[in-house]
Amino acid sequence: MSRVKRPMSHLIAPPALQIRDLAKSFEEPAVDELSLTIKAGEFYALLGPNGAGKTTTLRMIAGLLKPDAGNIEICGINALTDPISAKRVLAWVPDEPMIYDKLTPLEYLAFVAGLWGMNAEVARAKADQLIDVFGLGTKSNERCGGFSKGMRQKVALAGALIHEPRLIILDEPLTGLDAGSARQVKAVLRHLVSQGVTIIMTTHILEVAERMSDRIGVIAKGKLLAEGTLEDLRHTSGTSGESLEDIFLDIVKEKEQQDAPYKANAKAPHVAALEVLA
Ligand SMILES: Nc1ncnc2c1ncn2[C@@H]1O[C@H](COP(=O)(O)OP(=O)(O)OP(=O)(O)O)[C@@H](O)[C@H]1O
Ligand SMILES: [Mg+2]
Repeated sequence: MSRVKRPMSHLIAPPALQIRDLAKSFEEPAVDELSLTIKAGEFYALLGPNGAGKTTTLRMIAGLLKPDAGNIEICGINALTDPISAKRVLAWVPDEPMIYDKLTPLEYLAFVAGLWGMNAEVARAKADQLIDVFGLGTKSNERCGGFSKGMRQKVALAGALIHEPRLIILDEPLTGLDAGSARQVKAVLRHLVSQGVTIIMTTHILEVAERMSDRIGVIAKGKLLAEGTLEDLRHTSGTSGESLEDIFLDIVKEKEQQDAPYKANAKAPHVAALEVLA
């Protein structure tokens, strides 16, 4: 599926990401004993309907949300017992990136590099490179406050990449980008993967998942329904559908149908309580 040539580092490196029986509940389970293993240098797309638990999963991996249960290892580092070391090797770009409106892209990148303790000269060279790669050159000295959503997204991505992370966690990175910007971002992501960087990304743009990822995981209600290459998913779903959209919708629909009889038979809590009292 992937068109990217890459180093063979995954043959010796520990998995870039390994999560085991990860669980998080709010009013209901959002992530339900989820396990995933992603090899170093892999491009992994995490798909699922709205509310499936994708963002919750990514936020736990990024160390922003404490799991109720389970383990997370990032490049062999236990992210729950050694979160600082884990954060050094990862980058997280949320679906609504936060950048500082009063700073210019160059100032923002210098600020982020400073937080990582990077040498100022190295940081400036890296910032210039990222500004160039994301086509932000003409805006590099304008305050981010006046930027469009797509421009803010690119500044946030540049900020996430400045410390040269090994694992990049992206929540809907292409939402709000115009065609040209989306192409730029996809090219950057492809280049990173070709350098042995690992990416886990959520997207509702199934064509992007189909064209860019090595493997795809489909989750619903916090559980992994299917995982593998497009061919594997086609096999799992038993669908004759050609596109990932057909296969994805088949997998999710099958899960809904499996759950439906329980819902239909389930009694409202007050009815069940009255029956117990009767
Ligand atoms: N902070 C929170 N407080 C309460 N419930 C939450 C919180 N965060 C997520 N949830 C719930 O957890 C479930 C999973 O949400 P999550 O945002 O992970 O889904 P998602 O797969 O990212 O969906 P989308 O495709 O819409 O982004 C949803 O039912 C959501 O309402
Ligand atoms: Mg989400």
